[in-house]
Amino acid sequence: MELRNSASSNSLFHFLLLFLISSSLPSLTLSATVRCNPHDKYALLAFKKSLNNPSDLASWIPNTDCCNWTYIECDPNTNRVTQVSINRASISGEIPAAIGDLPYLDTLVLNNMNLTGSIPYSITKLQHLRRLTISETTLSTRIPQFLGQVKSLQYLILSVNQLYGPIPASLANLNKLVSLQLQGNKLSGKIPKSLGKLNLDSIILLNNKFVGDASMFLRADAATTWINLSRNRLDFDLSKVGFPLNLTFLDLSHNRIRGSIPKQITELDSILVMDFSNNRLCGKIPFGGKMQDQGEYPFLHNRCLCGPPLPNSCK
Ligand SMILES: *[C@@H]1O[C@H](CO)[C@@H](O)[C@H](O)[C@H]1NC(C)=O
Ligand SMILES: *[C@@H]1O[C@H](CO)[C@@H](O)[C@H](O)[C@H]1NC(C)=O
Ligand SMILES: *[C@@H]1O[C@H](CO)[C@@H](O)[C@H](O)[C@H]1NC(C)=O
Ligand SMILES: *[C@@H]1O[C@H](CO)[C@@H](O)[C@H](O)[C@H]1NC(C)=O
Repeated sequence: MELRNSASSNSLFHFLLLFLISSSLPSLTLSATVRCNPHDKYALLAFKKSLNNPSDLASWIPNTDCCNWTYIECDPNTNRVTQVSINRASISGEIPAAIGDLPYLDTLVLNNMNLTGSIPYSITKLQHLRRLTISETTLSTRIPQFLGQVKSLQYLILSVNQLYGPIPASLANLNKLVSLQLQGNKLSGKIPKSLGKLNLDSIILLNNKFVGDASMFLRADAATTWINLSRNRLDFDLSKVGFPLNLTFLDLSHNRIRGSIPKQITELDSILVMDFSNNRLCGKIPFGGKMQDQGEYPFLHNRCLCGPPLPNSCK
């Protein structure tokens, strides 16, 4: 009896000891491995809260390491949050202003979700942001003029939303910009001439309602490799433009472009695809280079283009 009692109190003691150790273990292991910066965690929790704590952000739990949360990446050396890439999430609401409180954010991707409201001004605080993607969302607003203050931007991808109004001329201040992709919105008005001074690799503006001139992008000394301006209402004289010598994809189809195709286009060695169809172009298709390898399709439905690869000869 005596022995039994002591054995059971002994095991109770062990049980209590184990309980104490194991309950303190998680916090011990956490404090040893938590990388998340507390300011970043605070901002992310505010971000989650202003979206009404959506189930897709369920892993964003206060007493866990935010570098381990879904959609989040941290810098391996500094442990600061560098990426918020949310894709196909059941999220709806306004883009939380708290996003501006992640000072080392390099990449923000909000793809395929229901967004309302506007792009928050706090985004101008992100002076390390290189890539901003808001795509396949319901966002219906203007491109804010203040985006021109995010000087670090290299990739501005605002494709397939409901954006309207003109491209703000302030985007010409983004002198590190490499790629401008605004396709599939309701954007209208003239393209700011000043955008032509940017050193862009890709310019993708198709499927909007842009009018007037786009020749600011057509210079032989530009570094651009990909231009897609298809399906707008662009109306300018093509006769005097130059084509960037490294172009691989050029699509000007479905606009109201006038004049003739300059002979300089025969100097493009890397061109793979071109499309001038459905415009108001006239005159002889320049002979040489890759021009006659294209087939007739890229030249169809113009006012009076002639010569190979079209079957009609020039009078
Ligand atoms: C991070 O998440 C993984 C998988 O979800 C888990 O195994 C690991 O323990 C977590 N690490 C921390 C520090 O929370
Ligand atoms: C967006 O909203 C629509 C209509 O309210 C809904 O059917 C759809 O599931 C929502 N999509 C997402 C990704 O939340
Ligand atoms: C075209 O590409 C070549 C090879 O990549 C490069 O050296 C050259 O600088 C480019 N030209 C322009 C105008 O960017
Ligand atoms: C331009 O974009 C349209 C739509 O995505 C695509 O079908 C077309 O191939 C693109 N043109 C070029 C030359 O990339």
